[in-house]
Amino acid sequence: MRIRTGIEGFDELVQGGLLSERVYLISGPPGSGKTTFGVQYLAHGATFGEIGLYITLLESPQNIIDDMSNYSMNVINLIKMKKLLFADLGPRMEYGFMDEMSEYVAQDYEMSAASIDHEAPSPAMVFREIAAYVAEYDVKRLVIDSVSAIRFTTKDMSLQEKEMSRFIRNLKKLGCTTILVSEMTEPSSYSTEQFAAHGVVFMHNFLYDRTMTRALQIIKMRGTKHDCNMRSVDFNDKGLVVSNLLE
Ligand SMILES: Nc1ncnc2c1ncn2[C@@H]1O[C@H](COP(=O)(O)OP(=O)(O)O)[C@@H](O)[C@H]1O
Ligand SMILES: [Mg+2]
Repeated sequence: MRIRTGIEGFDELVQGGLLSERVYLISGPPGSGKTTFGVQYLAHGATFGEIGLYITLLESPQNIIDDMSNYSMNVINLIKMKKLLFADLGPRMEYGFMDEMSEYVAQDYEMSAASIDHEAPSPAMVFREIAAYVAEYDVKRLVIDSVSAIRFTTKDMSLQEKEMSRFIRNLKKLGCTTILVSEMTEPSSYSTEQFAAHGVVFMHNFLYDRTMTRALQIIKMRGTKHDCNMRSVDFNDKGLVVSNLLE
């Protein structure tokens, strides 16, 4: 089954949408549109009843909600209707606490032992919290922003890779269609996330002729005949719009 992202110009590039119950990676530098992509994807599903969960690890949900309120995605209403959920698992937060949303998502969530230390969470901790939300709220679309903020329990690179690939394997079993956001500046610097994900989309943001230029490029998409070109990205009142080939 194809899951439509609802992002104008994107679904056509991937045979109508993302294959369901898989894990995708959106990577790119700051300001390239990763967060917008993630929220738009969830908001689109939420409009026809698919529950979306946005996990923040770097920014507070309130900042993201404020920024996205600029668009006609209807974020606030979807949150009120509990079709769109935000949870902060960042180091500043008590794990599992839907802080700013407590007004709408009034859940006295049980704190895990992990909530005591305020360091960045490990893949295992993040997974445990996410699995609990997914089960409780019947989440179908999931975004994790960003995997770059997850702390590994080891400094050994090969063990880190194992930890990350186990994290992604576990996510694949959750029954949601997942987008991992990754902060990255080099499309050719391969990371474990890129190997383990079913699909990788790179968002470009670079200076060209004194203006910042945004573009999107599908690096891989298993089981899908897809476009490989750099496509220009613009913003309209709905959010991101992917359009013609970048000259
Ligand atoms: N109406 C808008 N509201 C908010 N941001 C906008 C708008 N139009 C364009 N933008 C651009 O979107 C950028 C934010 O994109 P974002 O999805 O947060 O990127 P990333 O998550 O990759 O850092 C802003 O820096 C801004 O340049
Ligand atoms: Mg972002």
